[in-house]
Amino acid sequence: MIESTPVISSVRDWLATLPPLRYGPLQLSSRYMLSPLAGYTNLPFRRVVRSLGGVGLATTDLVNARGLLQGGPRTLQLIDTCPEDRPFAVQIFGNEPSVMRDAAQLLQARGVDSIDINMGCPVNRITKVGAGASLMCQVDSTIELVRTVVESVSIPVTVKMRLGWDSQHLTAPGFAREFEQVGVAAIAIHGRTREQGFSGVVDRVGIRRVVEAVNRIPVVGNGDIRTVADGVRMFAETGCQAISMGRGALANPWIFQQLVEWETTGHPTTSGSFDDRLGLLRKQFRFVVEQRGEERAISSYRKMLHWYLKAMLVPAPLRNKAQAAANEAEFEMVVDEIAEHGPARGSRTGLLPDLYIPVPSGPNERW
Ligand SMILES: Cc1cc2nc3c(=O)[nH]c(=O)nc-3n(C[C@H](O)[C@H](O)[C@H](O)COP(=O)(O)O)c2cc1C
Repeated sequence: MIESTPVISSVRDWLATLPPLRYGPLQLSSRYMLSPLAGYTNLPFRRVVRSLGGVGLATTDLVNARGLLQGGPRTLQLIDTCPEDRPFAVQIFGNEPSVMRDAAQLLQARGVDSIDINMGCPVNRITKVGAGASLMCQVDSTIELVRTVVESVSIPVTVKMRLGWDSQHLTAPGFAREFEQVGVAAIAIHGRTREQGFSGVVDRVGIRRVVEAVNRIPVVGNGDIRTVADGVRMFAETGCQAISMGRGALANPWIFQQLVEWETTGHPTTSGSFDDRLGLLRKQFRFVVEQRGEERAISSYRKMLHWYLKAMLVPAPLRNKAQAAANEAEFEMVVDEIAEHGPARGSRTGLLPDLYIPVPSGPNERW
């Protein structure tokens, strides 16, 4: 139990009194995590974010536990890693204990540092098969499933969940308490219900109830953290020991390093300029080519490219041209053109405005 909510001005002092963050035996270098974002938190993006510093742990997109056992190439690509991508967790989803156990053992054998169980995904495709957030509707079988996974491996197992299915069923604190008992190493909690999807604002009081429900294990507060100030507020109002960023990292991949700077010196540096982001855009594309080959790189980079170009204030005609590039040569040419043009307003080395990443409409149907 935490004693009291640390007031904002003393959050840094309070964090300084905490021991380094651990997931069981795994000591993390910071308390700032990359939250899984299906379609984005692939190896190329994780490499880019890590190259900027400050990431304590990065988690893959959600991976179908059964698909993992079948070993299809697309599923295996989701768990691709490399030496600089450490420590990393693979997030699995499913609802059959034996399948989840076998998947966890396979991941341990492949050298994964930690396993995260998805109990938050609101998408119908996942919940209708009894996985993701729908696990929060079944108490006994869900606790058994989590226990089975924890007992099947020696690496830390964490759970990522929402506050509950809907506002009438805020089951997260009860689950957190039980999960701690069965040996879960940490809980990540997105402060919304499944019913909310991504609407409304994050309920930090709800997250605080989860923090208060556990005795020893860290709780990772998640949701709507886009700036250092948002992160400070999450610590201050919930008492959580760690925070994770998804959309905030997409909008500003420097956020992890900024949080570390704030925690250690009180003075975070600014996020990158047009030129800095252009460097990242090129770097991530090279990583995508490395992983997927030239032919598939262009199509698989489009989603990410959209956010880079938005953040860099690239005018619409050039953004459209970049999206229409059919091969690597065309892509490089249009990126050179973008570099030449600079941002639509402001300077190429100055501060860019904050980018807000909305979530798609109908969030429970599609991300
Ligand atoms: C496009 C998208 C994909 C997501 N994919 C996953 C996922 O695979 N697993 C998961 O646990 N959460 C997933 N989430 C939820 C995020 O991890 C996070 O909990 C949520 O976006 C709130 O945090 P944020 O405001 O920092 O983005 C996804 C969210 C978005 C917007």
